Amino acid sequence: MKFFIDTANLEQIKEAHELGILDGVTTNPSLMAKEGIKGKDAVYKHYKTICEIVKDGDISAEVISTTFNEIIEEGKSLAAIHPNIIVKVPMIKDGVKAIKWFTDNGIPTNCTLVFSAGQAILAAKAGAKYVSPFIGRIDDSNWDGVELIAQIAQIYSLQGFHTEILAASIRSSLHIVKCAEAGADVVTSPLEPILGLLKHPLTDLGLAKFLEDAKKFA
Ligand code: E4P
Repeated sequence: MKFFIDTANLEQIKEAHELGILDGVTTNPSLMAKEGIKGKDAVYKHYKTICEIVKDGDISAEVISTTFNEIIEEGKSLAAIHPNIIVKVPMIKDGVKAIKWFTDNGIPTNCTLVFSAGQAILAAKAGAKYVSPFIGRIDDSNWDGVELIAQIAQIYSLQGFHTEILAASIRSSLHIVKCAEAGADVVTSPLEPILGLLKHPLTDLGLAKFLEDAKKFA
């Protein structure tokens, strides 16, 4: 399973990259706005910087257009920033048409804002490289996000779809583990749940004891 970090914060991206386990980055307009980046030039420059930090990982850059022609033009500009850019397109009618166009023209896409198996089937049919079910937001509305990952994984496997399931809207370390179990190909998570995977009280206790005992023969 690949690990992406879900942020536009450069320090956090560097920290995850230095850990040696980072395969890519997802961003969205809200995450870019959170970093205070303003204007198209600044946004594009930020994407380029992210690509340069991660070096050989996929970096999702989201379109903010909603009509077919505009999505195509914007997607082409985003893809031109760096060879590692993945054009992130929302699951809307013109978005699906655009994903098919990008697929036919060799531009990889991430279909975002996916909340059902039906949407995931459409994204795969259109040839998206990644499909992003938002599992935390599904949980927030009293449905089971991890169950959706398992359902999509089963459908893709039965039907032979090659689209990678990118579990998004991760809220906890447990979400990451459950998504791995359910068959996600990628998890995109904020830094905290990724670092949370490191933690276990018995590790800390065990290490303290080993270090204490090591003093006996130092
Ligand atoms: C996915 O690519 C999105 O950026 C993200 O995971 C959304 O997560 P949120 O529900 O925490 O905003």
